[in-house]
Amino acid sequence: MSSRNVVAGRTAVITGAGSGIGRAVALHLSGMGCPVALCDWDEDGLEETVASLPGPSMHRKLDVRDRQAQLTWAADVASWAPAPIGLVLNNAGVTVSNSVTGGSPEDDEWVMDVNFWGVVHGTRAFLPILQQQDSGAIVNVSSLFGIIAWPTQSAYNASKFAVRGFTESLRIELQGTGVSAHTVHPGGVATHIVDNARFHVDDQGGTDHGKLQRDFNKVARTTPAKAAKIIVSGVERGKDRILVGPDAVAMVTLSRILPNSYFTVIRKLMPLVRK
Ligand SMILES: NC(=O)c1ccc[n+]([C@@H]2O[C@H](COP(=O)([O-])OP(=O)(O)OC[C@H]3O[C@@H](n4cnc5c(N)ncnc54)[C@H](O)[C@@H]3O)[C@@H](O)[C@H]2O)c1
Repeated sequence: MSSRNVVAGRTAVITGAGSGIGRAVALHLSGMGCPVALCDWDEDGLEETVASLPGPSMHRKLDVRDRQAQLTWAADVASWAPAPIGLVLNNAGVTVSNSVTGGSPEDDEWVMDVNFWGVVHGTRAFLPILQQQDSGAIVNVSSLFGIIAWPTQSAYNASKFAVRGFTESLRIELQGTGVSAHTVHPGGVATHIVDNARFHVDDQGGTDHGKLQRDFNKVARTTPAKAAKIIVSGVERGKDRILVGPDAVAMVTLSRILPNSYFTVIRKLMPLVRK
C-alpha cells in the first residue's frame, strides 16, 4: 500500500455517474474542488448529477461497451481537463438475476459487456494518458461478488471476478511507476442496481422482482455517500483492494476462513439479516 496524491486538485473521470455510487463519488470529489468528467448512458440521470455539482465538470452520454466512444471520450477529457487526471473510476455496472440453467446468453453477454468490457475499454482509453503523466489511479469497481459467489448471480459473479483479475494483473504491471490500479468491492449499497437489473428468478426461487428489491433494501445498509467516502479515502491511502461496507468486510473474512463452504453459513444467516 502506497500513498500519493491522485485526488485533491486533480481531474476525476467517472463512468455510470448518473446514479448511485458514481453520482455520489462525483458529488464528493466535486465538493473537494476536483474538476469531474462524467459519463453514463442514462442522459437524464447524468443531467441530474451535473445540476447538483458545486464545481467544474464536463459530461457525455456514453455507452461503456463502445470501445471507440471510450477512446474519443478519453481524448476529449484530456483536452478539457483543467488539472492532470488523478482518478479514473470505471464504475458503470448492471446485473441479471437468474439461474445458470434458466439463463440466456443474451443476458450473460449484456452483463459481461457492460461490467467487464466496459472496464477494460475505460482502462485502456485512459491508461496511456496516466502513463504519459506518470501519475494517477485506475479504480475499477468490482463487487463483494467479485470475491464470493452467490446463486442466481453467475453472470455478475463472472464479470466481477474478471474485473478483479484484470485489475490485479494491471496493478503488478504498473509496479514501480507513478500509476496505480485499485479494485473496489462494495457490499450492499442502497442504489438502483436491483431496480435496473434484468430479473428472472431470485436466490430463493422467487419470481417477484419487487420482493427482491425489498429484500435488497433490507440488506443494503451502506448509503452511496458513505460508499463514496470509503472509495475516495481508500484511493487516497493507496489501498489496492477497497472493501466497502461492514457486510463486505465480514463476508470476505468468512470466505477466507471457509473458502469452500462460506455460503452454507451465509444461507443460515440470511433470513435473520433480511428480517
Ligand atoms: N449497489 C450495490 O449494492 C453494489 C454492490 C457491489 C458492486 N456494485 C457496483 O457498483 C457500480 C455502480 O452501481 P450502483 O449500485 O451505483 O447502481 P446504479 O444502477 O444506481 O448505477 C449504475 C449506473 O451505471 C449506468 N450504466 C449501466 N450500463 C451502462 C452502460 N452500458 N454505459 C454507461 N453507463 C451505464 C446506469 O445508467 C447507472 O447510472 C456497479 O459496477 C455495480 O456492479 C454495486
